[in-house]
Amino acid sequence: MNENTIESLREALKHSPNNTPLRLLLADTLLGLNRLEEAEVEYRLVLKSSNDTKATIGLAKVFYKKGNYSACNVILEEFIENGHEDLEALTWYAKGLLKENSVSRAIETYKRVLSIDPNFFDEELDSQLRVKGGRETSEPEEEVYDSRFLQKPSINFSDVGGMDAVKKEIELKIIKPLLHPELYKAYGKKIGGGILLYGPPGCGKTFLAKATAGQVNAKFISVGLNDILDMWIGNSEKNLHEIFELARFNTPCILFIDEIDALGASRSDMKQSAGRHLINQFLQELDGIDKTNEGVLIIGATNTPWNLDPAFRRPGRFDRIVFVPPPDETTRESILQLKLKNKPVSSIDYSQLAKKTEHYSGADLDAIIDIAIELKLESSFEDGVPKPIETKDLLNAVKKHKASTQEWFMTAKNFAMFANDAGLYDDILSYLKIKK
Ligand SMILES: Nc1ncnc2c1ncn2[C@@H]1O[C@H](COP(=O)(O)OP(=O)(O)O)[C@@H](O)[C@H]1O
Ligand SMILES: [Mg+2]
Repeated sequence: MNENTIESLREALKHSPNNTPLRLLLADTLLGLNRLEEAEVEYRLVLKSSNDTKATIGLAKVFYKKGNYSACNVILEEFIENGHEDLEALTWYAKGLLKENSVSRAIETYKRVLSIDPNFFDEELDSQLRVKGGRETSEPEEEVYDSRFLQKPSINFSDVGGMDAVKKEIELKIIKPLLHPELYKAYGKKIGGGILLYGPPGCGKTFLAKATAGQVNAKFISVGLNDILDMWIGNSEKNLHEIFELARFNTPCILFIDEIDALGASRSDMKQSAGRHLINQFLQELDGIDKTNEGVLIIGATNTPWNLDPAFRRPGRFDRIVFVPPPDETTRESILQLKLKNKPVSSIDYSQLAKKTEHYSGADLDAIIDIAIELKLESSFEDGVPKPIETKDLLNAVKKHKASTQEWFMTAKNFAMFANDAGLYDDILSYLKIKK
């Protein structure tokens, strides 16, 4: 369709202004060319004389493309509520809802689409919402989840160096129940609750949670509570619900909630009633009071567990709280090996590097490798020949980047020594080799 087509359509309409199919053709053509203002005029002209389905959906699409999602949704919501089970309308409604962060209603709408046509495919909706029911692709490994929240991690426990104690805890609490729900049921043991990981920043909490999802081939949803609280001010409760709904729709799923301490009782803004409300909403979602959380495994993380409301630690909630310490020497060695696996290196003295990096976090080790590569690149530019990374490059990098975990322990130590309710922080004490 080009300019000429549009002109001849306009010409024809001059002669028969009431020819609806012709006007719709013009409007659709304009829409296809992203000439939104002009398309809007034509759709509205059609709607003046009748409640035409195509014109209604067309106008909604115009609004969608203009980024006016609420107008798009208002039109489609009314249309659908009037009893139209129209595939196209439902599809665009789902998209519009998603744009407005109404995930659970988008899911509901998308389910209606799938119930009309199980083979339905829309790339955007599919990547963000799918993912159960309907058709599975033939090679599930190659599914791509490029949504804001939903991922299908490709890393698993073998990508996580060391951390055997934490892995074991996750194995017991998360993986076994997921793989053998019938055994748990047989013993009348309720599956549920979550694990709370805590420890200094950069020591693998997020990484491990993600690897857990990969380990059991589950989907992974990762959100920072601060995002939920800040991104859509005044809507936090709704957003919290949406996230849990997305997880429930995509079981088996690991729902990873970072910065759990953002709901801390000791945060002054949380003491006010609005904050209290939010905490209660969160606990309800966690308890699965209105909805079942079967197949949803919740991992929380925080750098500051002492800010957390004790209500979070009741049975069935975050009833396991697990310390994720800085990597020990063996772990540092395996982290370095993992990270340098696919890089050009000459024989590296991993054990020496591990010895020289006490108190370094996983993120610190990442940084060291980055610095070493930068130094190497500089010298490669001089003669244009790429050279492998050597032990001395990494040792130089160690000198340029300080360990970051000790600062955290200064604070943690105080809580462990003076506010150690029920031995909550015993792990910190034993890590610091302080006698109880
Ligand atoms: N045990 C580990 N094995 C491999 N990489 C690790 C490990 N611990 C940390 N890392 C690396 O450090 C980075 C930071 O870890 P992250 O999980 O974001 O820390 P946290 O969530 O505890 O702040 C990760 O991206 C990962 O590359
Ligand atoms: Mg993290």
